[in-house]
Amino acid sequence: MNYNILLTGGAGYLGSTMAPDLLAAGHKVTVLDNFMFKQSSLNHVCYHPNFSVVKGDIRLEKTIAPLLKNADIVIPLAALVGAPLCNMDPIGATTTNHDAIMLMLKLLSKNQIVLMPTTNSAYGTGDENNFCTEESPLRPISQYAIEKVKIEQELMQHENAISFRLATVFGMSPRMRIDLLVNDFTYRAVNDRFIVLFEGYFKRNYLHVRDVSRAFQHAITNYDAMKGQIYNVGLSDANVSKMELCETIRKQIPDFVFIDAPVGKDPDQRNYIVSNAKIEATGYKTSVSLDAGIAELIKGFTMIKNSMYGNV
Ligand SMILES: NC(=O)c1ccc[n+]([C@@H]2O[C@H](COP(=O)([O-])OP(=O)(O)OC[C@H]3O[C@@H](n4cnc5c(N)ncnc54)[C@H](O)[C@@H]3O)[C@@H](O)[C@H]2O)c1
Repeated sequence: MNYNILLTGGAGYLGSTMAPDLLAAGHKVTVLDNFMFKQSSLNHVCYHPNFSVVKGDIRLEKTIAPLLKNADIVIPLAALVGAPLCNMDPIGATTTNHDAIMLMLKLLSKNQIVLMPTTNSAYGTGDENNFCTEESPLRPISQYAIEKVKIEQELMQHENAISFRLATVFGMSPRMRIDLLVNDFTYRAVNDRFIVLFEGYFKRNYLHVRDVSRAFQHAITNYDAMKGQIYNVGLSDANVSKMELCETIRKQIPDFVFIDAPVGKDPDQRNYIVSNAKIEATGYKTSVSLDAGIAELIKGFTMIKNSMYGNV
């Protein structure tokens, strides 16, 4: 079945990979984005007759209300993403990540479906064997994670909603983010050949950006079986520490050097092993391994370099 899908933040890292996939699956996709990074990440879908785009702010009722009216499914990706950006603009973060989502939930009718990315960063720290399922207690520390947790609680009151607690995403996307852990480490390995890690033994879970898109499509196809639930989504064979991640990168960049030193602290003290068994039991399978994603990133970083203030 084909749907009218409103993709807020569709020009972002996840959205610019997801939009062409949703169009290819036969859906009509409307992106609402304020293009805050001046990104031209949706150039490749403008040709498609089922694609439309609105430049605007999700916080404005007059902008979002008419778009919500026409949507069968809303995928709200627009946000100020990550603890550092939220710390830089805490008011912008609350109005975008919390208040605008509350507004959206208020405006939706109960039959409209919301498929929402939240985050597994709220699981926080555990001991060496900390194995988290969807039932595990949440211990958000950063403003970003606290507001994501609050919004998930509100979201689950909506009759037709699914929450995806995404692992840290990696891989190339038309709007690139090199601040995400795997992308960042691979970028440094390619460009600097060394990295100083902090909390190098902290374990995280990872997920390729195209597998995020596949998870959302899987939920659309299997909606009745999956609705009203929260799912962790990540690579089950990639619950690895930062140190192990560096070792994985070194398999492809042999002269990469890394050491651990107390030079920083994770804002959410993320150190966990996440179970993705619940979504896997619905038939969802990831398709891109950490190794394949790193190979893809190495190719991408041959083309992309932050060199605004350098001659090379
Ligand atoms: N990337 C990850 O690892 C990850 C993990 C878990 C959850 N998420 C969630 O997925 C969503 C998308 O993340 P992303 O990695 O694509 O981030 P991103 O920063 O690349 O995308 C966010 C998009 O939202 C837009 N935007 C920001 N404020 C807006 C506003 N007020 N009105 C309209 N558009 C606005 C930006 O222009 C951008 O295109 C976020 O909700 C994020 O919390 C991401």
